[in-house]
Amino acid sequence: MSLSKRIEHALSDAISHGQAGAAPPRLASALDYAVTPGGARIRPTILLSVAKACGDDRPHLSDAAAAALEMIHCASLVHDDMPCFDDADVRRGKPSVHRAYSEPLALLTGDSLIVMAFEVLARAGREDCGRALELVRILSSRTGMPGGICAGQGWESEDKVDLSAYHQAKTGALFIAATQMGAVAAGQEAEPWFELGARIGEAFQVADDLRDALCNAEELGKPVGQDEAHARPNAVSVLGVEGAVQRLKNILAGAISSIPSCPGEAMLAEMVRSYAEKVVPVAAHQRA
Ligand code: IPE
Ligand code: IPE
Ligand code: MG
Ligand code: MG
Repeated sequence: MSLSKRIEHALSDAISHGQAGAAPPRLASALDYAVTPGGARIRPTILLSVAKACGDDRPHLSDAAAAALEMIHCASLVHDDMPCFDDADVRRGKPSVHRAYSEPLALLTGDSLIVMAFEVLARAGREDCGRALELVRILSSRTGMPGGICAGQGWESEDKVDLSAYHQAKTGALFIAATQMGAVAAGQEAEPWFELGARIGEAFQVADDLRDALCNAEELGKPVGQDEAHARPNAVSVLGVEGAVQRLKNILAGAISSIPSCPGEAMLAEMVRSYAEKVVPVAAHQRA
């Protein structure tokens, strides 16, 4: 089965579980709305690619890890779009959850997805408690405080921002979770996979800055020009378009050389290379 089919199946299983029984219908519907159709599904794709490269001897656990990670990501987007954060009306080309369903339901959708993510790991963990517990540890540390996405969003309420801590927590954390959870689901140690995740996360941040500056809202399915509008420090304002594209390429070259040795090393290097091709906006090639 393709990675993308595995991801969609695992997510739809998890969501159906949360909608069962006497679930309140509007919140049940909002869960599905927040998760499907997805965006690029980049984090679970990286997770399953690493698991495959490490042998993927417990595919059911890898699928659960992929679904859990994407559910945390979707929850973070639902909360991020709310009026108390970025007040965004559109996400993935359709009204954001608080616009489509109301603010209370958006808050509860994000909360429910976060809790469900850990429930998915707990259910799948029956087949290997040790690995499941390590997956819970990684995902919780990259979701909460002091260095997970809660911390990342928290930096936006500080007067003085530590930019690298902000970016690593807001964007990098879930990429580190992706590589480490893929390895752990397949029975490997997490630690050697930190650097690959951190580097892909850093590259993603630069790519996101390029897209924010160069793409239009229709292409991205969400508001653009946000970095400039909110005067957020970003790679394009610091390095220019050409400099940012070069920086992205350098980071990804470093990512490739950081891949730990494993049976699927060559396949992972190819994944990072093809990511680099896809992620640079066409407009950046035209300008660079
Ligand atoms: C958007 O992430 C949020 C950031 C961390 C910048 P993605 O660009 O991966 O969003 P989707 O999942 O593809 O919509
Ligand atoms: C979203 O960051 C990051 C998280 C939700 C953790 P942004 O606010 O910069 O991303 P977009 O532009 O809304 O996707
Ligand atoms: Mg935000
Ligand atoms: Mg936002």
